[in-house]
Amino acid sequence: MRKRITKAVFPVAGLGSRFLPATKATAKEMLPVVDKPLIQYAVEEAVAAGITDMVFITGRNKRAIEDHFDKAYELEATLEEQGKKELLRVVQSVVPKNVNCIYIRQAAPLGLGHAVLCAKPVIGDEAFAVILADDLIDGEPPIVRQMVDVFAQYQCSILGVQDVPREHTKQYGIVSSTNLDTDIEKVHGIVEKPAPEDAPSTLAVVGRYILTPRIFHHLEHVKPGAGGEIQLTDGIDALMRDERLLAYRFNGVRYDCGSKLGYLQAQVAYGLRHEDLREEFAAYLKTVI
Ligand code: UTP
Repeated sequence: MRKRITKAVFPVAGLGSRFLPATKATAKEMLPVVDKPLIQYAVEEAVAAGITDMVFITGRNKRAIEDHFDKAYELEATLEEQGKKELLRVVQSVVPKNVNCIYIRQAAPLGLGHAVLCAKPVIGDEAFAVILADDLIDGEPPIVRQMVDVFAQYQCSILGVQDVPREHTKQYGIVSSTNLDTDIEKVHGIVEKPAPEDAPSTLAVVGRYILTPRIFHHLEHVKPGAGGEIQLTDGIDALMRDERLLAYRFNGVRYDCGSKLGYLQAQVAYGLRHEDLREEFAAYLKTVI
């Protein structure tokens, strides 16, 4: 029987040090782009892909994420009393009713690979999506939907990839691959953050993955690297040696909201197409450039 993806893992336990002091007391994933936090865009992307179980890997200072997806009794009662129906609808529709939110605590930020491994008890024996909310990707259909469709056909692990300038390879996992089909590559190598002169290609893994449950076996055996972190890339490298691994060149525009520049670019792009703001905001931008 063909397998479907019903679960998504959202690792949100990183330190977000590039955004200090904003991330001192709250999660990077709660930073808003216009009026929605990054994590909500990520959950909406999962919902659009038919995913119903959202598994958040949280750390210290991440209570705001749980509160964001929980019912807000007092706020809802106040909005109701004030007759603010539209705002009430906005607050109540943060997650659809059929969606389950599950929270697992990562005791210490031991790396992205370790964060994904923390999801093992609730994922069980199913393939699942991993979504890094600080990579905000604007695509139609949404990127996870595109990847779930690729999974429906190939039934194996898939990495979301895009070409990056060679001088940026040091910020990413970089794959070596051969073309299999339109936008689909068969991966035969992956290296974490290579220097430009050592990078096997310029095809970079960004924050979207579909992984088979076999990844947990490998993450349990990955040796911690620099800073004691367990790298997801190392687990994927081992996975690739015993299962087929594909890379999918998604169709969409990515904003690296883990960096200040990418975050500002996202604000401008999403501000310019926000229905209540776009005209005034465009006029304002013209005055400052
Ligand atoms: P990053 O390395 O981009 O996030 O991790 P960071 O560590 O929070 O940010 P900086 O580099 O200090 O500014 C990628 C993703 O993995 C999660 C992060 O929350 C982010 O979504 N992560 C990382 C964890 O959940 N746990 C970890 O131990 C490390």
